Amino acid sequence: MKTLLLHCRPGFENEVCAEISDQAARLDVVGYAKAKPNSACAEFICSDEGGAERMMRNLRFSRLIFARQWARGEYLALPETYRIGVLLEQLSAYPVCSSLWLEVLDTNDGKELSTFCRKFEAPLRKALTQAGRLKEGADGPRLLLTFKSGREVFLGIAEADNSAMWPMGIPRLKFPRQAPSRSTLKLEEAWHHFIPREQWDQRLAAGMTAVDLGASPGGWTWQLVNRDIEVMAVDNGPMNEELLESGLVGHYRADGFAFRPKRAVDWMVCDIVEKPAKNAALLETWIGEGLCREAVVNLKLPMKQRYAEVKRLLERIADGLAERGVKASIGCKQLYHDREEVTCHLRRL
Ligand SMILES: C[S@@+](CC[C@H](N)C(=O)[O-])C[C@H]1O[C@@H](n2cnc3c(N)ncnc32)[C@H](O)[C@@H]1O
Repeated sequence: MKTLLLHCRPGFENEVCAEISDQAARLDVVGYAKAKPNSACAEFICSDEGGAERMMRNLRFSRLIFARQWARGEYLALPETYRIGVLLEQLSAYPVCSSLWLEVLDTNDGKELSTFCRKFEAPLRKALTQAGRLKEGADGPRLLLTFKSGREVFLGIAEADNSAMWPMGIPRLKFPRQAPSRSTLKLEEAWHHFIPREQWDQRLAAGMTAVDLGASPGGWTWQLVNRDIEVMAVDNGPMNEELLESGLVGHYRADGFAFRPKRAVDWMVCDIVEKPAKNAALLETWIGEGLCREAVVNLKLPMKQRYAEVKRLLERIADGLAERGVKASIGCKQLYHDREEVTCHLRRL
């Protein structure tokens, strides 16, 4: 298995190529990255047979910024009929898997193929189980079949605890009807990505305090209030009336870059559309000065060299905190609900 397939947001193929090539170089894995524009995926072709596995064993998937899903494996051409037989034959060279996901790419062709995948999944699952290739719940990697068309599939595997949490890395989050803006899902997705579910009750606990910079109309504030967290919502724009009536929200018509809470808070979140360097500096200040314990901040991406720019900003944050002697975990991901942006999460340790 020489190929590592990575899914991404359409238009971000070059960023995935840059990021995975950077990581491969760090790990001394020889190979090259390639991608077609707007294909919503990239491939890293390793020179050595075990290269893709070595990359997956040495990298944490959740730490990759631009990849939504990954799998090591090979492409397989499928006939028009008797696809299952051909798949089974090829899979005899793969380990027995513990779960099965059928995936498509985030393109228009992919959307059309998802109907085919839905119909194909049950008979395939049955055949794999009967052939002993799939033992659900047992040890073994997840089998990830990425269909590029009805005639071509990437037969891949990935460890379930080191790959996307949702098929194709797309979270199935329900838009809460009472939330005042669709951006609300961005913060919810960030929490899913950066905070293990079993820690939510401790790290997003009722009675905590938060500052929401650039809060109007209140989608992010709604998420915090939904967990009974008290929010200082900072924005010159109006806040949703129902949120203000919750008794948990104070509205501050002020500049988010100058605002400082009188006492340190548990959370700072910021969705202000500004130059990424300015938001990154804000993040470093809040965590560095101990104004908050955890933070989620959006970084809008530049037009070019987007991976290089994000990497530079993350290094600058890390260096700034190191100079202050502050220890913090730093995470960054282009979430499904992010467009031309990435989401950063910092936590003081
Ligand atoms: C993308 S919107 C935020 C949406 C919000 N997170 C939600 O979920 O409803 C960006 C907001 O930042 C505000 N903003 C822009 N510059 C700001 C600044 N310097 N200080 C405070 N707010 C600012 C804008 O007024 C706008 O409401």
